[in-house]
Amino acid sequence: MFGCLIAITLAGCTYKNIDLEKLERVTFTKDITPIFNNRCTICHREEGPAFSLKPSVAYQTLKDHGLVNGNNSILLTKLKKRHSTSLINENQLKKIELWIKEGALEN
Ligand code: HEC
Repeated sequence: MFGCLIAITLAGCTYKNIDLEKLERVTFTKDITPIFNNRCTICHREEGPAFSLKPSVAYQTLKDHGLVNGNNSILLTKLKKRHSTSLINENQLKKIELWIKEGALEN
């Protein structure tokens, strides 16, 4: 009985130590392009002053402009500093951050 209790306690501890972020897979098509489409393409479209972030070209644009190179990506810096912070919420920002951390794949 005592051993069982210890086992449960240990399992509980292990569970708490799992980094939930690591279990979450972020994909460009399912998670990132919808954010761009909802929040960015109103300005970031072919015709405007800003580069296009439409789903069909967004990934190529990011690569061409060198916006997602490592943790200091211009994309994140821009979103955190120069663009209004109300543009996207905490959750959306986290997704973009995680996507970049996972290698900024065209997935
Ligand atoms: C209200 C219009 C508007 C919206 C909405 C907007 N942008 Fe922008 N963005 C611009 C303009 C104009 C520029 C170019 C001038 C500048 O750098 O501020 C720009 C520049 C940028 C840059 C900088 C590129 C560089 O080389 O420095 C990034 C990155 C960017 N936008 C990402 C985004 C993302 C991602 C979203 C959506 C979450 C977004 N923007 C929403 C207007 C907008």
